[in-house]
Amino acid sequence: MIEVLNKEMFYLYNEKISYVIHILPNGHLGHAYFGKKLGTITSEDVRYLTSTESKSAGTVKFSQTIPNFSLHDQYQEVPIYGTSDFKDGTLKVAEGDDSLYLDFQYISHTIKKEKPRNLAVPASFAEDGQVESITFCLEDPFNQLRLEVTYSLFKNRGTIARGQKLTNLGEKKRKLLRFLSGALDMKNQNFEFLHLSGAWLKERHIKRHSLTQGTVSVGSLKGASSHQHNPFVALLPKGSDNQQGEVYAANLIYSGNFLAQTEVDEWNNLRMMLGIHPECFSWELEQNATFETPEMLLHYTSEGLNGLMAETSAFAEKHVIHPKWYRRNRPVVLNNWEATYFDFDHKKLLALAMEGKKIGIDCFVLDDGWFGQRDNDRVSLGDWFEDPRKFPKGIAAFGKDIHELGLQFGLWFEPEMVSPTSELYTKHPEWVVRHTDSSRIAIGRGQYVLDFSNPAVVENIYEQMKKIISSTDLDYIKWDMNRNITQAYSAYLADNQVNQTEFFHRYILGVYRLYEKILSDFPDILIEGCAGGGGRYDLGILFYSPQIWPSDDSDPIERLAIQSGTLLGYPLSSFSNHVSAAPNHQVRRQTSLEMRTNVAMFGPLGYELNLFELSKNELEQIKTDILFYKKYQSLLTFGRFYQLTEVIDQPNEYGWAVFDEESREGLVCFFRILTEANSSNREFIKVPFVRENKRYSLNGENISGNILKKIGIRKPYQFNSVNGEIAQVAGDYQSFVYELQEL
Ligand code: DGJ
Repeated sequence: MIEVLNKEMFYLYNEKISYVIHILPNGHLGHAYFGKKLGTITSEDVRYLTSTESKSAGTVKFSQTIPNFSLHDQYQEVPIYGTSDFKDGTLKVAEGDDSLYLDFQYISHTIKKEKPRNLAVPASFAEDGQVESITFCLEDPFNQLRLEVTYSLFKNRGTIARGQKLTNLGEKKRKLLRFLSGALDMKNQNFEFLHLSGAWLKERHIKRHSLTQGTVSVGSLKGASSHQHNPFVALLPKGSDNQQGEVYAANLIYSGNFLAQTEVDEWNNLRMMLGIHPECFSWELEQNATFETPEMLLHYTSEGLNGLMAETSAFAEKHVIHPKWYRRNRPVVLNNWEATYFDFDHKKLLALAMEGKKIGIDCFVLDDGWFGQRDNDRVSLGDWFEDPRKFPKGIAAFGKDIHELGLQFGLWFEPEMVSPTSELYTKHPEWVVRHTDSSRIAIGRGQYVLDFSNPAVVENIYEQMKKIISSTDLDYIKWDMNRNITQAYSAYLADNQVNQTEFFHRYILGVYRLYEKILSDFPDILIEGCAGGGGRYDLGILFYSPQIWPSDDSDPIERLAIQSGTLLGYPLSSFSNHVSAAPNHQVRRQTSLEMRTNVAMFGPLGYELNLFELSKNELEQIKTDILFYKKYQSLLTFGRFYQLTEVIDQPNEYGWAVFDEESREGLVCFFRILTEANSSNREFIKVPFVRENKRYSLNGENISGNILKKIGIRKPYQFNSVNGEIAQVAGDYQSFVYELQEL
């Protein structure tokens, strides 16, 4: 998978992709190619691809010794501003107040064939024999710095993982001012920049716009990957669709501040970069100290957005999420949040859990409000011991009662936060992230952020959680995080003479440390990530928790948009979905139980509503729905997901499908949001994954694969009512399920 050609070209390839690196005339690493696999190539081919007769006009030469050579018009692996390249680069280092002129030259490389999983830092991993990595060692002798750049290629994946590590070899202190995980230089192929952006209650909506000369970026400076933007971005040529088009995408295995940027230059060359946001970041390196970036993934497919989803989701499932959860069905959850909010006690919850058991629930998750004196969201965070008013026999006794029903038991924690009136805060006001001017302490949702850059804080929360987890024999944790960080100041870092610009990264490392400690002690616990809904839906969190509560908006219509965006970068199995009440608690929309179920069954299914407010018929219906879900659970959690309708933000119609290549079985769902008056009765939705020469059972009808693929499933016709009669298909919020089986 990794060949060295003529000692100066490096050919990385697998069954799907090729990546070619070469050494430039100045000794730097140049980029030659990333994309569809090239097959056998020689050094002549690489030379042909990369040779330039002259530098481009108007550029500045790198040095006087290399004729006609400028970095500004070269495709590079480690681009750095100020080296005859005028675009933004991935790395900037200073000594005192002065930025250094960096010049990293190739020294050597090493190839490795293993990439084990290490709980301490989220990164990709693979079983032996499934991966090959090359690390280039580059040095800047003048500045006494070493840069190691690593590329990993995985068997049969259209994905390459990259990261960089800098070591200060000199005696003088150096400061990293910017250190992104990697860059990809290439031609702008009439690309659209696709990103997943939105806000609380409407996270990861699909945004697409054309790229032209200049810089476009998305990012976060909130201390978390954020509700507003996501570290997943993609480039797709205009005109590409679900099935065709060469798509390049990038994602970061990281949960903190990030920057994703594209810059198109005067010759329509494009540079895409991703990594820790350079704003509010710097890192001091003493002699021999190192800093390693989080890993960045680069995905490639020539099969449009459905091809992209196959790559991103297979990669996350196989190489990011813990193998323990690989193809392992998740419990159907009943969460009490929207059923009771803070108003509950042992008796009330147990009754709810018993009702849940009757309809087929597997796991009861007790959300916010079980600890301290938490009757509202302003108090008790940080005091992770049960509220005796609500649990007079203790939380362990409640857990026991849940287990005795034959249900798994889950609990909500918000480990990174503290309430101003909590016991923890009273004891340790210095453990809070805040401004030194006490008249200006920022607060959000009535709470402060704990200083997780301080190991003593992480230790305290870990000890508190550990007690509860062991005493309740806990199966499931919902790990929430409900406010962002502003005024990023740590008293602990100040006491230890560490610059405050290191805070954001150290904070996230502290969060990872807590995950690591808990999962080391309780490896079987299933953690569901959450951050006020989807404020931290990223591969860093998925490394520890195989599923994430994607949004506080549980309305099915809103979820159609959120889920369609999220699944471009993340697997179906990671997207926790709950059927909630109608009218919905966030947007007050009234939808049918059928619609809510049909949306929520894509991914790990759960329920979050007061079962005692449902009719007998509705409870019976849910029981039937859960049986239907269980019949198709593997397909609906791990099947290959397809978009059948155009992937844009908030269309009126969605076609979703899951299909299993081995059993040749699938489910197709068609959703129509608003009804259309007097619509056409001849509309179809193509099914791309069927085989033309086979026949299929489609809800019992025997249909040719040719018809389904080339023409499609006939969309349910909306015949509007005549003389007040109610038509069979009419009204807003329609959903239809098709069971598909190859015959
Ligand atoms: C925000 C979460 O996203 C909700 O599901 C719920 O757990 C609340 N926090 C509880 O405070």
